[in-house]
Amino acid sequence: MYKTSAHLLTISKISFLTSEAVELTFDVPERLGPYYAYTPGQYVALEENILGQPVRRTYSISSAPTHGKLSVGIKKIFDGKFSNYAFDCLDVGKKLRVFKPDGRFFIDYEDNQNLLFIACGSGITPVISIIDFVLKTKHNSTVTLLYGNKTIESTMYRERLEALKNSHLERIFLNYFFSEEKQEIEFKQGRIDRGKIESLINQRQLNPSNVDALFLCGPQEMISSMKEVFANHLGTNVPLISELFLSDNRVIEKKKGVRKNLRRVKTFVKVKIDGLIKDIELADEETIIDAALRQKIELPFSCKGGMCCTCRCLVKEGEVVLEKNYSLEKWEEEMGFTLACQAYPKTDNVFLDFDAS
Ligand code: FES
Repeated sequence: MYKTSAHLLTISKISFLTSEAVELTFDVPERLGPYYAYTPGQYVALEENILGQPVRRTYSISSAPTHGKLSVGIKKIFDGKFSNYAFDCLDVGKKLRVFKPDGRFFIDYEDNQNLLFIACGSGITPVISIIDFVLKTKHNSTVTLLYGNKTIESTMYRERLEALKNSHLERIFLNYFFSEEKQEIEFKQGRIDRGKIESLINQRQLNPSNVDALFLCGPQEMISSMKEVFANHLGTNVPLISELFLSDNRVIEKKKGVRKNLRRVKTFVKVKIDGLIKDIELADEETIIDAALRQKIELPFSCKGGMCCTCRCLVKEGEVVLEKNYSLEKWEEEMGFTLACQAYPKTDNVFLDFDAS
């Protein structure tokens, strides 16, 4: 099945998680089961025509494979075309284009691991999938979750977390923090920051030397500060993986500096996708993904903001410069991978391979 293929899947259930978050569950026909098989921590891109325009967005999978279903969690964001549409207009029975699960927010889950998760807001969505899966299938593993929200009411998946806690009391440790609501225990109030982590460590409620993997999911500032805090605490080979989620009301800023400096009359980019070679002509300041869309060439993409990594490809010839990158790891950049939604050609000829992994 091709990388750019999507299928129309029917929404079988809609659950309102908070006053600003909803979960969509899709009916996956048996014949498409292998295509939509996923690893907990992955996402799917959804696409729908909204006001006459195709709008594609990436959402993390919230269900666990053990549930035998495919669900995504969607939080309404200010001015969010898709999230507002999902919240206000979708109904059970409606069909949406759903792409193949993708993403790298996972590790090899083994049977005897202590996993630490730090999530904020809708960053809980891939985390709940992993926690659910690990508790139900890895019977000697433990999970610790530090979960930050504005208020109790805005906390996604609180009931599901509590239910998991009740059934796995010995193996799950939940710590909630609220930034906009007074708490009886003062420590629970405020954002998850360096001070809170250091206090948990000093009070021996958190022992980083026992952690086998750290997962960070939320806004950039939380991810950066936690990476700094844990740099000196985690063992050298302990995986630290992160997934960026925009915080409420934030939009991806547009920086055009890179494009202006590289302004060219015309650039041709050759791409390999699903085994086929195609040529794309770029107009001035146009991204490779936007140029492909204009020329009706299907390439994998979703966020168009350097965050989801769906448009990851290998630069086989020529050079590009990246405008924004929130998802490629350093080693991937060193190997020549780039993000087509953020890459601008520096040379006259560029060849990008979307089939390289
Ligand atoms: S489309 Fe998401 S990083 Fe390019």
